[in-house]
Amino acid sequence: MARAGGGIALLPTAPERMRNGDSEYPYRHDSHFHYFTGFDEPHAWLLLDASGRSTLLCRERHAEREIWDGRRLGPEAAPAVLGVDEAFDVEQLDAKAVERLANQPAVWFPFGEQPELQAQVDGWLATLRNRERGGVACPQTLRDLGPLLAEMRLVKDSSELATMRRAAQISAGAHARAMRFCAARFRADPQTAVREYEIEAELLHEFRRHGSQGPAYTSIVAAGANACVLHYAAGSTELRAGELCLVDAGCELDGYASDVTRTFPADGRFTPAQRALYDIVQAAQEAAIAVTRAGTRRLDAHDAAVRVLAQGMLDTGLLDRNAVGDADAVIASAAYRRFYMHGTGHWLGRDVHDVGDYLSADEAPVEQPDGLGGTVVKKPSRVLQPGMVVTIEPGLYVRPAADVPERFWNLGIRIEDDAVVTATGCELISRGVPVDALEIERLMQG
Ligand code: GLY
Ligand code: MN
Ligand code: MN
Repeated sequence: MARAGGGIALLPTAPERMRNGDSEYPYRHDSHFHYFTGFDEPHAWLLLDASGRSTLLCRERHAEREIWDGRRLGPEAAPAVLGVDEAFDVEQLDAKAVERLANQPAVWFPFGEQPELQAQVDGWLATLRNRERGGVACPQTLRDLGPLLAEMRLVKDSSELATMRRAAQISAGAHARAMRFCAARFRADPQTAVREYEIEAELLHEFRRHGSQGPAYTSIVAAGANACVLHYAAGSTELRAGELCLVDAGCELDGYASDVTRTFPADGRFTPAQRALYDIVQAAQEAAIAVTRAGTRRLDAHDAAVRVLAQGMLDTGLLDRNAVGDADAVIASAAYRRFYMHGTGHWLGRDVHDVGDYLSADEAPVEQPDGLGGTVVKKPSRVLQPGMVVTIEPGLYVRPAADVPERFWNLGIRIEDDAVVTATGCELISRGVPVDALEIERLMQG
């Protein structure tokens, strides 16, 4: 901010949101706000000036409200507990914002994130405009704080990484628990059925008993054909012996997400057709992992995974070589997208799809494949740096079709791990649950 001319940054936390009637959604702080403050109460603002002075506005202590809604930190205790320079009652927000914005060159806030914010800022600016005759200058520039925050959050420090390792470890344990749970049920009765929600309950149990606040995103537990719906949420479908179960679930811990997917056979044994596709997805993930390190580009992992998947589609007959050509042709025409239609990863952090520019800001646009069989002119994908955290998540999703071998119909497979980029490679932080098909079978068979 100082390099860009100074000013004041305004950062509200998230509002409380109603769910239905007078019931609220569980409260979740704003990720940017919490990154700076570690403060998880609602009705709070952070004001930062370019010299680094920080002002928190938060709810006053309130003996009666605290009986109903819980303890409040209060502005008196906030500086010592949170490390802000000063704190005031949030009832003074308008007065403090106007006071701080007076005679500043710019006001900074994240554009397009909180719908009411711009109108609120306008109100403060209008107040200042009315004081100009009295010699008070009103900021003349609105600046987007979002990109600065994204750059800060994209590279994680050691304490953030410690939290993310723990989150990923808890999630991996939850996946192992889900596998064991299914295995035990089918061992006791091979004719049984396990409902998706029962597996979801096992995941949640494991998240919470290890101190996670809950899932970082809606858990996907997809029995059989449901795995071909990419954003399927756990429902009540019965999982049967002989089917695969795809679980994409990760816990949030102290504001940080994990994002883990495993696909396992309900009864602990892959069929040959399942195994054939599973091994291709695993090989694709290994290829992507092998190029994930500081200095490579973010899309290198995707390109490496797509090459393995495309070759696998040809080898298994998912794609007809006579119709689509070799792997190069499959990639050039994007024919692989019929069975692999999503990206191979994303930034991971406080948000499951975390903030951070995916393109290389300081390089010139170049012509490149658009992933749809054509080309596009845009900046190259970003070069990875140590401390970035990415997911690596290839998959294959086969819908029934006359030109697809029937033994693969309705198989949906994804494997997803969380990786910390290092100078020489990457640290897979979610490998507390096996990935290899034989190791999954071994775990499930006890
Ligand atoms: N669970 C969301 C994702 O994998 O991107
Ligand atoms: Mn993901
Ligand atoms: Mn996921």
